[in-house]
This record gives sequence, structure tokens and C-alpha cells, in this order.
Amino acid sequence: MTATVYRSQRIAYWYFALALVLFALQIVVGLWIALQYVVTIPQGVVDVFPFSTARAMHTNLLVLWLLLGFMGATFYLVPEEAGTELAWPRLAVVQLVVLAATGVTALVGFFFGWTQGRPLLEIPTELDFVVVAAALAFLANVGVTLQRARRWNAVQGTLLGGLVFLAAMYLFGMPFYRNLAVDWYYWWWVVHLWVEGAWELITAAMAAFMLLKLTGVDRRVVEKWLYVELGLFLFTGIAGTGHHYYWLGAPRAWLWIGGAFSALEPLPILLMVWDTWRAAKDKPGALQPRLTWVYVGGMAILHFVGAGLFGFAHTLPQINYYTHGSQVTVSHGHLAFYGAYALLNLSFFYFAIPRIKGLPGGRYDERAGHWGFWLTSLGVVGMSLAFAVAGVLQTYLERVRGEPFMIAQQPMRFWMLIVFLHGLVVLAGVLTTVTHLLTLRPERVAEVVPIDAGGAAPRAAGTA
Ligand code: HEM
Ligand code: HEM
Ligand SMILES: [Fe+2]
Repeated sequence: MTATVYRSQRIAYWYFALALVLFALQIVVGLWIALQYVVTIPQGVVDVFPFSTARAMHTNLLVLWLLLGFMGATFYLVPEEAGTELAWPRLAVVQLVVLAATGVTALVGFFFGWTQGRPLLEIPTELDFVVVAAALAFLANVGVTLQRARRWNAVQGTLLGGLVFLAAMYLFGMPFYRNLAVDWYYWWWVVHLWVEGAWELITAAMAAFMLLKLTGVDRRVVEKWLYVELGLFLFTGIAGTGHHYYWLGAPRAWLWIGGAFSALEPLPILLMVWDTWRAAKDKPGALQPRLTWVYVGGMAILHFVGAGLFGFAHTLPQINYYTHGSQVTVSHGHLAFYGAYALLNLSFFYFAIPRIKGLPGGRYDERAGHWGFWLTSLGVVGMSLAFAVAGVLQTYLERVRGEPFMIAQQPMRFWMLIVFLHGLVVLAGVLTTVTHLLTLRPERVAEVVPIDAGGAAPRAAGTA
């Protein structure tokens, strides 16, 4: 079965399309902020469009498009897993319109200084309430659909668990706590418990679903690992929050808890890499379409490198004491977000869009897509390495030699130029990918070759 079975699954397409447009916009703004580290921007421009505003746009666009991707994927996955149409398809459309309008309002509002000020969660409290309403509509829609169908399985359970956890943590980022230490403490409940808790569960469920559909392997093979991952993600993810409590006035015990547990976090990710590879290896015929698998494999590897290796590099308090809040953090932030969640979403788009469009065999003309993957991925890897060099330099100049922030920026400029140049490659890759995904065509049918005496019969690709 390759085409969508349920009409309501098609709503997912509009979530994916909007997510892709916002992704492209995020990258353009990213280039603009990187440029500010390389050259001095005229004061008149800075007054109208300061670094902080552009940075808020860059990161909030990221969070918005990733969440839209997760929601679209959920609307695609749930009907098929539950074996029924979505409970309220129209509500899903209204929800998309509301979220899009909220996003636009927030972006325009940033220009006028309408912001909560907390990084990644800048959107003002009034708009938070709209987001909460949309999230409740979303959870109700998904929950009621699953409850009516009463065909629970591990994929649905993990997904719903992750989504409820995600929504619940958002609430902790809404109030303003007068004590700044407390304020940051709860800020991490959103940021860390999202990316290293709730989102990992959503990843596990989405990846499991894709693997099942792409390979047709027995459910038990994939679901078994889902349980192991669930336990490990929650265990290491929640205790691992401690790696953010080192320097904000929390009890000293967190130095040890945070250090020890977060170091274990890469383990479940590694298991998933191995599992993906194993499931694929057993069924060589199932490794099609190739590009979808390039994405799934790329996600597994860069998820592990960006979150696991680059995360581990600065998670021990002895190291974090020097690197905290430097460009080392930014380096990890880019590779982890891209490797884990940008690639997860793009993998899912490549998996689902051909099916939504009813392309034969779920196959599509892959050519431009490979360019998109490699340009973007190599660009982000190069950019992250350049951020890392700038960060090590910054750590040495500021934290070891005690130079003031602005003095230390001068020698870092060259490496920010390298960041910028890789950013141009990323932009080329993202534009290629977005265009490719929004214009997916059926696989090109090979030209019919004349049969010579005793030659093979003409072969048409895409019909195998
Ligand atoms: C996909 C999963 C992950 C994502 C998307 C992610 C993303 C991020 C981001 C964006 C920040 C910067 C937050 C800020 O200060 O503005 C951050 C900080 C940090 N991350 Fe991760 N991360 C992930 C997993 C991990 C893992 C598994 C580890 C440890 C093994 C880790 C260790 C850290 C540490 C120690 C910091 C604080 C850096 C500092 O003190 O400045 N992260 N992460
Ligand atoms: C053209 C490509 C890009 C460029 C030039 C770029 C540049 C930047 C710059 C200069 C910052 C600010 C760092 C600071 O405050 O010192 C930043 C922040 C950030 N960007 Fe990008 N970016 C790009 C693409 C991406 C992508 C693809 C992702 C994720 C998928 C991403 C995620 C983030 C995150 C999470 C932060 C906040 C990091 C932190 O708090 O430590 N960016 N970016
Ligand atoms: Fe964390």
C-alpha cells in the first residue's frame, strides 16, 4: 500500500508546505545574523533591526516549522495506525490557520519589541495563550481519534506520550518568575525537556512508523526497540536536565547528576542508528526510494554526532565551566537541531508527500533532491565545525585569558566568515530541497531501448 488510505491524511501536506517555506525563511535570517559577526552593520540599520530581533526570528521560525512538521506527521500517521479518519478534519485545518496567523503576528511583533525576552521562547504571553488553545485542539483531535478507534499500539502510545509531555512543558515557560535563577530553571524545563525528552519520543514514534511502512518488517522487531528507547530517553533525558543547572544557583548535587546522566544520553540514539541499519539490511529490496533512505540514514548519523558527540563534548561540568554560553554551544545547537529534528522532518516529508500525491509505488524523481541533501548537510556540518573553532578560540580568550567580550570577538571574525560562507551553501541546499519537495514528480520512466536480436525486453523504471 503506497497511496494514502484516508482522506484526512492529506491535511498533513499543508502543514509540510508551510513548514518548508518557514524553513527557507529561517535560513535567510540566519545568514543575516552571521553577517553581523563578520562586518560592522551601520548603526541606522541596527536601530531598526537589531541582532536580538533577527536572532529571535531565526530560532522561533525553527521551532515553529519543526512543530508544524511534527503536527502534520501526526495527522498523517494517526489515521493509518488507528485505521480510521481523523475525528475532526476541519479543526485540523483551522488549527493550521490559527498557528500560521500567530506565527506571522509574533514575527512582526518582534520588530516592535513585543517579546518575552527569553531565548527560543520570545513569543509574548498573550500569543502563548493562542498557542495553548491550538495545542489543546490538536491533542483533543488526536486523542479522540485514537480513543474512538481503540486500536492502541506502541507507536501511537509513544507519539501521544511525547505530544502530551511537549504541551505540558510549554506551560512552564509561560509565567515570569521574579527570581531570575528560578526563571532560567523553568526555561530549561521547556528547552531541554523538549529536545532531549518529548521530541525524542516523537522522533522514535515517527521513525518507527516510517521504518515499518518502508520495509514492511514485522511490527515486533521495531516496537521492541521503541520500549527500550522510551525508558532510556526518559531516564537519561529527565535526569540529564542537570547539565543546565551547573551555574544558575541550583544545589551542587546537580554537577554530578547532570554530568553522569547526560553522558548516557547518546546511548539510545546509537541504538536507533543500529536498529535503522539492521531493519534496512535484512530487506535489501526495501531500500527504495533511495533518497528517503539517504535522509533516514543521515538523520540517524547526524543525530548521534550533533546531540551525542557534540553534546557530550561540553556536558561535563569541568569542561562546561569554560565553554558555557560560548560559540561551542552554538556549534552543538546547530548540528543537533539539524541532525535530529530538521532531518527527521525532511525524512518524513520525503516519505509522506509522494504517498499523499499518490505517486506510483511511493517513488519519485529523486535527482535534484540528492543535491539538496548533500549541499545542506555538508553546509551545516562545515558551519558547525567553524562555530566550534570560533568557540574554542572564544573560550581561550575570554575564559582563560580573561579578555573582554568585544576584544575577543576580533580574532573570531575570520571563523564567523567561514560560518557565513558555509551558510551560503546551506541556503543553496535548502532552496533546492524545498523546491524539490513542493514539486515532486513521478519517477522518470526510462526510455524504451530498441530490442536488438536476442536482446532484453524494454524495461520501464518505476513499475518494479
Ligand atoms: C537532539 C537533541 C539535542 C538538541 C536539539 C540540543 C540543542 C541544544 C541547544 C540549542 C542548546 C543551547 C541552548 C541555549 O543556551 O540557548 C543546547 C545546550 C546544551 N546541550 Fe544540547 N541538544 C541536544 C542534546 C544534547 C545531549 C544529548 C547532550 C549531552 C550529551 C547535550 C548537552 C548540552 C549542554 C551541556 C548544553 C549547555 C551548553 C552551555 O552550557 O552553554 N545536548 N543544546
Ligand atoms: C545559513 C545557515 C545558518 C546560519 C548562517 C546560522 C547562523 C546562526 C547564528 C549566527 C546564530 C546566533 C549565534 C549567537 O547567538 O551567537 C544562530 C543561532 C541558532 N541557529 Fe542558526 N544558522 C543557520 C542555520 C540554522 C539551522 C539549519 C538550524 C537548525 C536546524 C539553526 C539553528 C539555530 C539555533 C538552535 C540557534 C540558537 C543557538 C543557541 O542558542 O546556542 N540554524 N544561527
Ligand atoms: Fe540539555
